Amino acid sequence: MTEWSVVGVRHQGKEKGARMEEMERIARAAKELAKLGAPQVAVVLGSGLSGVFPVEGERTLPFSAIPGFPAPSVAGHAGEIAVGTVSGRTVLVQRGRLHFYEGHSLADVVLPVRAYARLGVKVLVLTNASGGIAYGLEAGDLVLLTDHINFLGQNPLQGPNLGPLGPRFPDMSEVYDRALRQVAHRVAGEVGITLKEGVYLATLGPSYETPAEIRAFRALGADLVGMSTVPEAIAARHAGLKVLGISCVTNLAAGVSPLPLSHEEVIETSQRRAADLGRLLTALVPRL
Ligand code: HPA
Repeated sequence: MTEWSVVGVRHQGKEKGARMEEMERIARAAKELAKLGAPQVAVVLGSGLSGVFPVEGERTLPFSAIPGFPAPSVAGHAGEIAVGTVSGRTVLVQRGRLHFYEGHSLADVVLPVRAYARLGVKVLVLTNASGGIAYGLEAGDLVLLTDHINFLGQNPLQGPNLGPLGPRFPDMSEVYDRALRQVAHRVAGEVGITLKEGVYLATLGPSYETPAEIRAFRALGADLVGMSTVPEAIAARHAGLKVLGISCVTNLAAGVSPLPLSHEEVIETSQRRAADLGRLLTALVPRL
């Protein structure tokens, strides 16, 4: 055996160790969550949206009680998981999420989603707050994601592939499930809520964008900009979950409106649309 192959074997051993450790971390988190129930649908509630979606008979766990879960640090993100029922369907609700800009690794950011996959969840609904880039969008609009652009410069699947979860090179040609989008439009119509459609671009943050960056993102094909969702959507597709994305446009993106952006405005607008989003989720989730 040459020196090179010895190094190669050692490296392979290390990779296998890291992979097994991550799979065990996911399994431990899933085991704790299993105490809350056996949901098939999970809903992640974003900035200012934590309170929008009540579930019946809920049992909750704070992130801090789930092994391996880091604590979120952003105002407006509570950081707990609830399992309960909506029209008889068992649903998991994640109130608050982990963001890359908080300093978490992307592996940490997507750990909850991977734990849900391990728990048996089949459908993931990701909600978020975003800035509106496309002309015609207004603050307060609810927008169904049709696709995304990963502008984070990193991918949650980088590093050793977690083979038991999914393939090394997963297809991303339909991240946001077409059939589920049709259901969402139908249900939104039934409850009298207008759902627009758009492409979401994820930036690292935490600074908001400059007007020049927003013009560049528009030229790239983005309709919305935000700092979340894309890592979770990629990890969910890798693990074979179906994904639906719903964004609340909390503000017009930098330079689209002459006003400066603020986190307070983001929280205020999402709270203004909270009741409608809650109504939509309550009607929609049992039908996913
Ligand atoms: N940019 C990035 N993220 C956001 C925005 C924005 O304008 N609004 C809400 N989240």
